[in-house]
Order: sequence, then C-alpha cells, then structure tokens
Amino acid sequence: MKTENNFLLKTFINQREKEIKSFANAHESISKISFNVLEMMFKEANGSRLSLGYKAPQYVYGEFERIEEYYKLFSNSNNLKSPMSVFCDLGSGLGKSNLLVATMFPVSQSIGIEYVPRLHHVALAQKQIFENVISPRLEKPPQIIFQRNDVVRCSDQWLHSDVVFINCVTWLKKPLTRLKKLFEEMKSGTEIFTSNEFKSSYLHLTKEITCEANWGLKKFYLYVVRKQN
Ligand SMILES: C[S@@+](CC[C@H](N)C(=O)[O-])C[C@H]1O[C@@H](n2cnc3c(N)ncnc32)[C@H](O)[C@@H]1O
Repeated sequence: MKTENNFLLKTFINQREKEIKSFANAHESISKISFNVLEMMFKEANGSRLSLGYKAPQYVYGEFERIEEYYKLFSNSNNLKSPMSVFCDLGSGLGKSNLLVATMFPVSQSIGIEYVPRLHHVALAQKQIFENVISPRLEKPPQIIFQRNDVVRCSDQWLHSDVVFINCVTWLKKPLTRLKKLFEEMKSGTEIFTSNEFKSSYLHLTKEITCEANWGLKKFYLYVVRKQN
C-alpha cells in the first residue's frame, strides 16, 4: 500500500513538474510570474483534508487565501530585505510561506517545521518541484529545509532565524507560553510575524497587518525582539 502511494505521489510530482516547467520556461522573469507558478504548484493540495484525523485544536489547518497575501505580510519585514537572512515558519503546513519567501526575498535558508506527516510529505514534494524548476532561475537559490517535528521540541533548529512566522490561531496556551519563552531567547532584532498576541517586555510590537486568510480577514502582529542591556 505504501509503495503504491509513493508511486502515485511520484507520478503526480512528475506530471505537475512538467506543467509548471513549461509555464515557467515561457516567461523570462521568474519573479514576475512567481505568484502564478506557486498557485499552480499548490492548486490541488488541500491542507484541511491532509490533516484529517488530527483532532487536537492546534492541528486545525488554515492558510492564506492567496499566495500574494504571504508576500503582502512579509513585505513589512526589514530583515528579509537584507541578503542571507534565515526565515522559519513554525507549523509550516504545505510550505507555502517557505516557497514564497524563497522566491521573493534574498534569504539563505527557508525552514519549515510541521508536525502532521502528510502535510510534511506534500511540502517535501513541492520542494522537489521548486528545486528542479524555480531554483535554477534564481540568482542565489536558498536552502529549503522541511522538517517533521514539534516546534517546541526542536528549538535548536530555528532559534537562529532572523524572521519567524507562526500562524497559530487555534494553538493551546501551553505550547504558546513555551514558545514565548523561546522567542525571548532569540537575538535582538529578530522579527516575529504572528496571528496571536504575545505580551512580553522582550517582544516589541511594531506593526499590525490585516491579511485575508481562508477563514476570513485576520489581524497579524509583527514583533521585534528587544533585549534590555
Ligand atoms: C494554521 S496552520 C498554518 C500553516 C502555514 N503556516 C500557513 O500559514 O500557510 C498551523 C499549522 O501548524 C501545525 N502545528 C501545530 N502545532 C504544531 C507543533 N507543535 N509543531 C509543529 N507543527 C505544528 C499544524 O499541523 C498546522 O499545519
């Protein structure tokens, strides 16, 4: 059964890759068509269906309505504009934010950490297409890392990031309290884009941005880590 599923996934990836390659090759600049290419990549991937069976509230799937919305949010970042920064999505789902950031900003790493295995596997498949079709068209293709893990238990994998994204509306208080403590350990200047408010003297709220999520309009917060001397 597993071999059959792997075979089907491989066939699907090959087919999708051909389609995307022919669209991308027909255009000169990848950044001009990046939203369309990424929409094409994800058009049949349904995160809510893939996470069925995971009943705890924090595994409820949600994402932005369109790829462009992720760009709108991250355009508010200063760190993503400087070359070689590291981006991380905590609870990265299908990996949409990771691939958008990898295409549109000069990052060195785009890290996505996701607990639900089926979502993680689709993200890995999209990474393969991305590396075959989009990376060769980028001036400095970043390293894309998708990891299947619990974000609270693998902080050594993401504490060095310059920009963190966490879309965590349904997450429980316990992991959020733990995450707040971990954010406070990050270096000064780290930017945290989040759907939830984090009250801490180390986290300075700098902006509120409304985005169109697939469940309606949602306010996101941009915090910057500020360490007192
Ligand atoms: C609302 S979705 C956001 C998906 C993606 N970041 C986006 O905005 O497009 C939240 C994701 O976090 C994942 N998640 C929840 N708790 C997690 C944990 N402790 N470790 C890793 N992933 C987690 C869920 O499975 C889900 O895919």
